[in-house]
Amino acid sequence: MQNKQEILEKLTGIQSSRKSYYTELTYLVEEMKKKNRQLAVINQLTQLSINASWPETSIYIASQLTQILPFARFVLTLTKGGHLSSYLASQEDGQWQCHTHTSVVPEFVEQPTHPLKGFLKDMLEAMFPDYHALSVPLHSQRNQAFGYLTLLQKAEQSADSDSQDAELFSLIASHVGVSVENILLFQDVSEKIKIEAQLVQSAKMAAIGEMAAGIAHELNSPLTAILGNSQLLLREMKATPTAPLMNDIYQCGVRCKKIIQNLLTFSRQEEYVFSTISIDEVVEDALGLIGYQLSVSGLTVTKHLTQPPLQFHGSRHQIEQIVINLLLNARDALAGRENPCIELRSFLLEDEAHAYVGLSVYDNGEGITGEQLPQIFQPFYSTKERTKGTGLGLSVSLGIAEAHGGKLMVESEENEYSQFTLLLPLLREEARNGEKTDTDRG
Ligand SMILES: Nc1ncnc2c1ncn2[C@@H]1O[C@H](COP(=O)(O)OP(=O)(O)OP(=O)(O)O)[C@@H](O)[C@H]1O
Ligand SMILES: [Mg+2]
Repeated sequence: MQNKQEILEKLTGIQSSRKSYYTELTYLVEEMKKKNRQLAVINQLTQLSINASWPETSIYIASQLTQILPFARFVLTLTKGGHLSSYLASQEDGQWQCHTHTSVVPEFVEQPTHPLKGFLKDMLEAMFPDYHALSVPLHSQRNQAFGYLTLLQKAEQSADSDSQDAELFSLIASHVGVSVENILLFQDVSEKIKIEAQLVQSAKMAAIGEMAAGIAHELNSPLTAILGNSQLLLREMKATPTAPLMNDIYQCGVRCKKIIQNLLTFSRQEEYVFSTISIDEVVEDALGLIGYQLSVSGLTVTKHLTQPPLQFHGSRHQIEQIVINLLLNARDALAGRENPCIELRSFLLEDEAHAYVGLSVYDNGEGITGEQLPQIFQPFYSTKERTKGTGLGLSVSLGIAEAHGGKLMVESEENEYSQFTLLLPLLREEARNGEKTDTDRG
């Protein structure tokens, strides 16, 4: 019997009388289960998703930790460039939520070892007065602290957790640190790749702009000859059978001229005279030029212009070009639609800081898909047939609007409508009077 007891003790490591034997065994089994759970959680924590957002990452860590450590809120904090970004995860009605809190690091905490730990503790305990903050640093491969994990515990929870929990939390931080550093590196690399691609794209655009300007200048003189001569010949030909052919040549010449004009404006190689103009005048001018073209296409054009007219300082020719581009786009979008109509509306838009002269061009045409919308202002983006669109209209218009200190915006619903809104800084009565006296004096 004595022998059997000794063998059992050796096998199980439990030294006890038969009475307490089962209690101790259960305890040991529970401990082992607990350790297994901890290992499983640590394993899960090393598998942070590399492209998750920081709030998602914080919630993921919190939801794993809650299986092995007692706490009410969890905070993932990252330090970067003098700022602390804290992602506070907590459970509300069984659902994890995350709030972001950013703060500037005061200079006095710049000390060598875990400089921010105390600052972070004070900050979190001030935000959550009934909680006790337990923070551990996240270390990079080069042994620099780049962030912290913090458990916010209520008084009874912090009494429950022992030194073993604190040790476990530190161990977890060393594993999580590696994964979090990987995410940071991944973000850095992605950002670099994105910037590089943007640089390549803008270098390409600059090259295209310069080339286009050169070609446009070269083409301008022969085109003037083509246009002038074809107009002279047209006048002589009158009703001869070949007159339509000559008219074609003339129309194509006009189209080329328009493209060249756009290219020159696009590459900012043309100078324009700025003067005080009202948006209504520009609308009238644009309609004078293409209004007939629009009405023969069967479109109803309505205008709602403000009284008195709103004025701004700018290039009449360039703003007219914007309005014409918008009207022609509306016309194209209305091809084959029922009850096609275009509405032009001028208005005043004021807030505390700015005052704008606004012009909106609405059409009930085909609209723009969500996929196309972000691209329509890009140069050479066109959904039209090759012979119809160059894709420069909107990018040129946006460039002009911005050069005037204004904006060009769009709103659209596929198959319903499109509305483009041009905003230009309003020239106030006082400023205009000031301008007058200045020139009078001059
Ligand atoms: N009112 C509109 N309704 C629907 N789509 C529009 C409208 N205006 C612009 N778009 C879309 O935006 C694209 C780009 O317009 P943009 O004026 O820059 O070029 P384009 O009209 O195709 O060619 P271009 O104006 O140089 O002759 C158009 O091809 C069209 O798909
Ligand atoms: Mg266009």
